[in-house]
Amino acid sequence: MSLPKRYTVTAALIYANGPIHVGHLAGCYLPSDIYVRYLRLKGEDVLFVSGTDEHGVPIMIRGFMEKISPQEVVDKYYAIIDKSFKDFGIEFDIYSRTSKPVHHEFSSAFFKTLYDKGYFHEKTTEQNYDEQANMFLVDRFIVGTCPHCANPKAYGDQCEKCGSDLSPDELINPHSALSGTAPVKKPTNNWFLPLDELQPKLEAYVNSHPEWKANVSGQCKSWLAQGLHPRAMTRDLNWGVKVPLPDAEGKVLYVWFDAPIGYITASKEWFEQPETRKTLTYAGAPKSGNWETYWKDKDSKLVHFIGKDNIVFHCLIFPAMLMAHEGYVLPDNVPANEFLNLEGDKISTSRNWAIWLHEYLEELPGKQDELRYVLTSISPEAKDGEFLWSDYFARVNNELVAIFSNFIHRIMVLTEKNYGGKVPHADTFTKEDLIVLEEAAKFPEKIGACIDNFRFREGQQELMNLARLGNKYLSDNKPWELIKNGVQEERVRTVLYVSFQLAANLSTLCMPFLPFASQKLRTMLNIAQLTWDQAKGTSNIAAGHQLGAAVMLFPKLEEKVIQLQTEKLARIRKENEERKAQEEAAIQQAKKDRAVVAAADLKPLAEVCTIDDFAKMDIRVGTILEAEKMPKSDKLLKLKVDIGHNVRTILSGIAKHYSPEQVIGQQVIVLVNLAPRKMMGIESEGMILMAENADGELSFVSPVKEHMHNGGIVK
Ligand code: MF3
Ligand code: ZN
Repeated sequence: MSLPKRYTVTAALIYANGPIHVGHLAGCYLPSDIYVRYLRLKGEDVLFVSGTDEHGVPIMIRGFMEKISPQEVVDKYYAIIDKSFKDFGIEFDIYSRTSKPVHHEFSSAFFKTLYDKGYFHEKTTEQNYDEQANMFLVDRFIVGTCPHCANPKAYGDQCEKCGSDLSPDELINPHSALSGTAPVKKPTNNWFLPLDELQPKLEAYVNSHPEWKANVSGQCKSWLAQGLHPRAMTRDLNWGVKVPLPDAEGKVLYVWFDAPIGYITASKEWFEQPETRKTLTYAGAPKSGNWETYWKDKDSKLVHFIGKDNIVFHCLIFPAMLMAHEGYVLPDNVPANEFLNLEGDKISTSRNWAIWLHEYLEELPGKQDELRYVLTSISPEAKDGEFLWSDYFARVNNELVAIFSNFIHRIMVLTEKNYGGKVPHADTFTKEDLIVLEEAAKFPEKIGACIDNFRFREGQQELMNLARLGNKYLSDNKPWELIKNGVQEERVRTVLYVSFQLAANLSTLCMPFLPFASQKLRTMLNIAQLTWDQAKGTSNIAAGHQLGAAVMLFPKLEEKVIQLQTEKLARIRKENEERKAQEEAAIQQAKKDRAVVAAADLKPLAEVCTIDDFAKMDIRVGTILEAEKMPKSDKLLKLKVDIGHNVRTILSGIAKHYSPEQVIGQQVIVLVNLAPRKMMGIESEGMILMAENADGELSFVSPVKEHMHNGGIVK
């Protein structure tokens, strides 16, 4: 490809089914924002779009859980997500939503184009159906017991307890999460995209991009090696973009069909609906004529920022759709990140194991750049990353504060104190000064090369190297000592002048990574934004230039702030562990009960008896009045039982299970017309009914209501 004339940059349309956390930010939003800010500083023509994915089962499930409609779900979370992005300075040209009519129209027309070209294969398959709720049940709507770990709350696609992938047919006792009834199979028609037929073209496409990140091409190649299969592009659901065909009542587009088209719709929206774009002329705004230029002109470079779970959709399925449609450029790069873990564990929404952006800002107000910085430092570019609060603390205080902020603060304060806040003029540069300026001039290119290749971590390290260069230069020259001792005043001026050139360049070079600090620094320096290429200059601030007031670029973090955060996580971890233990105990109990039942079942059931057989027995409620051990017997208790009509003497074989004291006052069920029988010299006038479990344990059978009087009939 020749040099691109423009860039179309997208960041994944996240499901609007919950707020966003640090994992999302690190995964694709921060890298895409850094990339776009950098391109804009280079003067490139960029369109940067994203939005919320508002269809699909995740939205329906959330509505089901919160007992609100899917529309209410997406309205609620769109607002929260949109605000978080704005708060963290993620600068989309447009942040749209797939529930908008413009998207429904556009994605539906896209589908119709493929349909008219004869791309889809219509196929009938048997799907699970809930006869009570009158709807087809996709995997997540079916719950049952996991065949691997006995978790009774496994989903039709996955057991969250043991992590096994499941299909609904593998679940023990599957039932609908909606009605609780067992699903039945019902045939239904859907339209399939024959990915198998497109495989050769897709293979050629993937192979034509040897520059893709290893984790990305690795996943693509493994999918291709396994062979692609036709995939249904429609679903039997009532939430989504309606399938634009006759006889498609109750069917919507597969969410992974409509969602990536959302990137195109958002672009179209930016150009065609002025109210949704800020103004035509803000700095860095897209410059080309219309949305089609960004999506169809071969000189447009399409880049998708996503997390690793989205790779196959962006590298194979969406390109397949674009190829089938024709006329569109294909994704030129898909720099997907791996996942971020938190304090040793996978981030998990259901376990509340996350740092939520809106909560972070409440608890650490104004510290957006600190989080951006740390997340880029640990960006999961090649492998999963790990967020630790102790590491956050160290990076902020040892790097942002001790290096970057300190460098700026030293020169600002010295100048304020000694030169009325005006940049001093330099006399003669020493060799050392020239080397520092020359070194500094290399940074736009160094950092740029990293960003061009999606190595944001390294790019940010280079940025800090520039701050380090300045800090070291100051420490080597110690202008504060020179001025105190009143010697070499001209040297102080020169050192400050050189330092301010570095500071000016830093204020622009840090802008992609630390946009809030960049603004703060430019206010302090009282200068306008430079372009990326100007940021190599050695005279971007003139001698005599009036500076603004000195403030701390990054205030030092106090240990207790971090302590609060780790304590909060410790509480959540404890709650989770307790819940897990409870769940585990319940599962163990259920397993045990099942085993007992299984063992008890081994005893064959007795032969059928007639109602007449049963009617012969006179069974009554009675109360044990007296009890004593039978001498010379370890089995028998001698009981006096009031059965209403009279008090009976009954010998009962329960001495191993109950002591005499335990049974006095106990209400029991007695077979009163059993033929009397003499045992050890005493006549027993009836029999107490007992329940026995598989271990041979005995328990009384007793009326549950307390006002059952003695002599009451058991029938
Ligand atoms: N909604 C998906 C998720 O949150 C991402 C969709 S990206 C798009 O994982 F391409 F479909 F837009
Ligand atoms: Zn399991």
